[in-house]
Amino acid sequence: MPSSGQRVVRAPGRVNLIGEHTDYNDGFVLPMAIDLETRLEFTSTDDRVVDLVRTETGERVRIDLDERATPETGRRGDWTDYVAGTAWALREAGGPAGGFIGAISGNLPLGQGLSSSAALELACAWALSGGESPLADRLAIALACQRAENEFVGVPCGILDQFAVAFGVRDAALLLDCRSLEHRPVALPAAAALLLAESGVMRELRGSGYEQRRRECEAAAAGLAAIEPSVRTLRDVTPDLLERARDRLDERLHRRARHVVTENDRVLATVRAFEADDLPAAGRAFLASHASLRDDFDASVPAVDRLVEVAAAIHGVHGARLTGGGFGGAVVVLADAAAADAVIAGIRAGYATPSGHEPVVRRVRASDGAGLATAPGWT
Ligand code: GLA
Repeated sequence: MPSSGQRVVRAPGRVNLIGEHTDYNDGFVLPMAIDLETRLEFTSTDDRVVDLVRTETGERVRIDLDERATPETGRRGDWTDYVAGTAWALREAGGPAGGFIGAISGNLPLGQGLSSSAALELACAWALSGGESPLADRLAIALACQRAENEFVGVPCGILDQFAVAFGVRDAALLLDCRSLEHRPVALPAAAALLLAESGVMRELRGSGYEQRRRECEAAAAGLAAIEPSVRTLRDVTPDLLERARDRLDERLHRRARHVVTENDRVLATVRAFEADDLPAAGRAFLASHASLRDDFDASVPAVDRLVEVAAAIHGVHGARLTGGGFGGAVVVLADAAAADAVIAGIRAGYATPSGHEPVVRRVRASDGAGLATAPGWT
């Protein structure tokens, strides 16, 4: 039975500007929430059933939260796990999780490394709470949604996506220290445009090299700890230790560690560059990040490498790199705002997706994090 009026919650996608595969190594990340979002229009009910329709496909599902109350009994292996999992994690964290009748819509593409999963979790968290803040603060909400994904859905992601979707700030990127969870907004230079170019290679974290990379990072940290006992995770590894470990660590694990250690430095260099309005310096960090993901972390694919090359060669572009978990997905391009339209046209003309199509390329703007939509016309 509906028990209150209709409301709308929105949750943005995110682009990680730099700091890839550093979150689960206790490192630094610099994402921003974007103006592509998932919307969930809903009416709360007084039972524990979620009736959902996906507006785009017409697909309808009925999720009984009591039947699916735990990861052991509730997992189905499809997208409804994000909903049931978020309800489970909210309750575990002491929050509310009531039923609702809802419709999911929005313009956030799936499978392009833009955190559509985290957006769905965050939108559901707000709807399960009747449109009120689901937990005491945004960090608690982000951590609960990450737990839903780790333990209920079964994807071992770090905190990057849920953090960015929860904390987004208009016109700013977000610097997060994934060890201390300290964070702050970093204003984006007014002269910069951030573009997103989809490679057309779909990605999915489950079953991709993602889990393997995590294990390799853990193995690298363990190997380095045998040399330097103070190392708990790759965050603790210095360039000097990496150099000393060159002949004592498996070559592949050494490259994985080198990516993470150098990437953490590049995040901080990008923050300094943004704060100094130095777009060329930020662009160099983007390009070095991509090369490191490609050569040391083996997380890119040829189509994405080609897209980065095409973008980087265009006048007005400072840098470009694979964003998100890798193995496909989208590329983020740092360009002069004044050149943005020409750069978009240049990428469309210069790169074709593996199926021969013109790629989707758009300018994205940093936007606010998940919550109740206040757009005119919605109550
Ligand atoms: C995915 C995961 C994140 C993070 C990135 C790589 O997006 O969900 O936690 O590990 O990959 O930076």
